Amino acid sequence: MAAITATAPAVRTRITSLFGCKYPILLPGMSWISSPTLVAAVSNAGGVGILATGPLTADETRKAIRTIRSKTDQPFGIGATLLMPGSKENVEVAIAEQVPIVNISLGKGNWIADRVHEYNGKILATVTNSKHAQSAIDSGADALMLTGHEAAAHGGDVTSLVLTPSIARRYPDVPIVAAGGYADGRGLAAAIALGADAVAMGSRFAITRESPLAQQMKEIVSNPNSTESDTLYGKNFDGIPARVLKNEEATRLMKNPASLPVVVYRALVAARKMRIPLYKVIPGLLTQWEKMYIIAQFGAATESLMKATVDGNYKDGVQFIGQSQGLIEDIPTVHELVQRVMHEAMDATSRCSATFLEADGLPASHSAM
Ligand SMILES: Cc1cc2nc3c(=O)[nH]c(=O)nc-3n(C[C@H](O)[C@H](O)[C@H](O)COP(=O)(O)O)c2cc1C
Repeated sequence: MAAITATAPAVRTRITSLFGCKYPILLPGMSWISSPTLVAAVSNAGGVGILATGPLTADETRKAIRTIRSKTDQPFGIGATLLMPGSKENVEVAIAEQVPIVNISLGKGNWIADRVHEYNGKILATVTNSKHAQSAIDSGADALMLTGHEAAAHGGDVTSLVLTPSIARRYPDVPIVAAGGYADGRGLAAAIALGADAVAMGSRFAITRESPLAQQMKEIVSNPNSTESDTLYGKNFDGIPARVLKNEEATRLMKNPASLPVVVYRALVAARKMRIPLYKVIPGLLTQWEKMYIIAQFGAATESLMKATVDGNYKDGVQFIGQSQGLIEDIPTVHELVQRVMHEAMDATSRCSATFLEADGLPASHSAM
C-alpha cells in the first residue's frame, strides 16, 4: 500500500464525543499487552488505549496509570474483569486516580459507576449479548463494548455482524464500541454502518511495534500463511468460551476439560506467580465453588498464556488471537496503523456511497456492458 502522507481528519461519533478522542478506535485491555507504552501510543495516535490490569497488583496499577500520564495527556482507560481476584482493588486505584474511562466486564458495576460519575469519568461495559447489555445499562454504563464471536479471548457465540446491529437497534441511545474481527478500515466503516460508534482492535494492536507481545508471536500471526481459520474456540482452555491461536498445545488443551486436581494445582501455581495471596484464593475455593472453579481455570490458563505472550514459546504456550489474524500481514507502528485504518475507512465509505449512488441511476457495471 502507498505511504500515507496526509493526516486523517478528526471524526465525530458518540464515542469520540463521550471519550474526547480524535478517532473512533480503541485498544482493549489485553493482559501483558495493553501496557502503559502501548496505551499511551494509541491515545497519542488519536484513539483510546485501555490498560490491562488483570496481571497487576493495586500498586502496579497505580504506577502504570502514572506512567501513562507521563507519556500522554490524551484520554485513556483501565480494564477490570470483575470476576477476578484483585480487580476491585485495581478499580479503587483507578477511581482514586480519576482515570477518565473504566472498562468493566464479567460482573456488576453499580458501585463503580456511581463513583466514576462523581468525577465525570465514563463507564464502558463489555458484553456479549442483549441480556448482559441490559444489565450493564441498568448498572450505569455510559457505553457498551460488544465482543463478537470472531474476537480473541472471550467473545460470545454471536458474530459481530449480528451482535452490533441487534444491540444498536435495541438500545438506540447507548454509544457502542464494536469488537471482534476488526483489524482494518473496511472493518471500521462496516462497524459504523452496522450502528456502532467505534471499534476496538485487540489482535491488530497486539501486532504493532509498540506492543510488548513476544516478537516470535508477532511474526507467526503476521505471516501471510496464517489465515482466519487458524484459531480454536472452546470452553476447555480456561472455563469460559475463548478463542486462541491454533497450535498443538492449544489443540491438546481444548480437547477435554482439565481434571479438578490439575485445575486447582495450576491455579495455585498461577496465583503465586501473579503474587495473588493464597488467603484470597483458598477460602473461595472452599465456599463459592462454582465461581472459584471458573477463576481457578482462568488461573490455570495463565501459565500457558504467559509462555506464548511473554516468552514467545509457540510450542508449549497458548496465544489468545482472533479470526482477524487472517487480516494481519505486517508489524506497523501504532501511529501508522491508526492513520491507515482511518484512510481505509474513508476509502471504503466513498466506495459504498459511489456504489449506492450508481444504483440510483445507471450502475457503472451496466453502462460498461
Ligand atoms: C493477546 C490478547 C490478550 C487478551 N487478553 C485479554 C484480557 O486479559 N482480558 C480481556 O477482557 N480481553 C482480552 N483480550 C480480548 C480483547 O480485549 C478483545 O476483546 C479482542 O481482542 C477483540 O477482538 P479482536 O482480537 O478480533 O480485535 C485479549 C486479546 C488478545 C489478542
